Amino acid sequence: MAERPYIVGNWKMFGTRAMLSEARAIDRAAQRYMKVEVAVAPPYTLIHAVHKEAEQIGVGAQDCHPGAEGAHTGDINATMVADAGAKFVILGHSERRQDHGETNKLINEKIESALEAGLRVILCCGESLETRDAGEAEVFVLRQLKSALGAFDDPAERLTIAYEPIWAIGTGRTATTDDIAAMHGAIRKLLDQTFGEEASAKVRILYGGSVKPDNAREILSTAEVGGALVGGASLTAESFLGIVVAASESDEV
Ligand code: PGA
Repeated sequence: MAERPYIVGNWKMFGTRAMLSEARAIDRAAQRYMKVEVAVAPPYTLIHAVHKEAEQIGVGAQDCHPGAEGAHTGDINATMVADAGAKFVILGHSERRQDHGETNKLINEKIESALEAGLRVILCCGESLETRDAGEAEVFVLRQLKSALGAFDDPAERLTIAYEPIWAIGTGRTATTDDIAAMHGAIRKLLDQTFGEEASAKVRILYGGSVKPDNAREILSTAEVGGALVGGASLTAESFLGIVVAASESDEV
């Protein structure tokens, strides 16, 4: 893995101010693993507070509305999350696609607004079990990505991909390392074709879906895995740091 591994915690809809002590512990410990880039995406309500605590780790948002300010009750746009201290935003997560009917078109609009606000983007993709069983996982994932990559003039600075098979998220079931290597390889080929090999090489492809301290080392040593997007195991400093340590020691780093 040429680039620094990137370990990102996606806190989803978990966390009140009581979680700030976990953020602080993650931040302090991350200072001992400078080889690894560590970040968390807390709920909107905690972005500013985590940003104020963080000396080492990056802070991001889990989503943003694509529009400029306006009459959209309950929505938060990219400028607002950047103002709160976010440096990146996760877009296209399967829970947003499923729970909120997000389409590739809407995700594209969000990408454009995020880039305009100066944010980096972690762009998620991943297939359902039905799609995988039908042998169409690769075609499906590459189609999700193709529709979004055109927005990035400067992928090296702004783009991270997260491959998260839907059936592995929160289930305790991970893809095999062969499946991960095959999908990440296919994504890398698409990035090479789209941006050229030099720019593509700087885009990290994270794996997500039930990454835990005890499977992180194997996953992070897999070809073309540049880090992990971690849900459940990012909610305590202890388990999240287990993954950071694995990243700092993984063979390919
Ligand atoms: P999980 O979630 O680690 O709890 O499976 C990963 C994600 O959805 O980003």
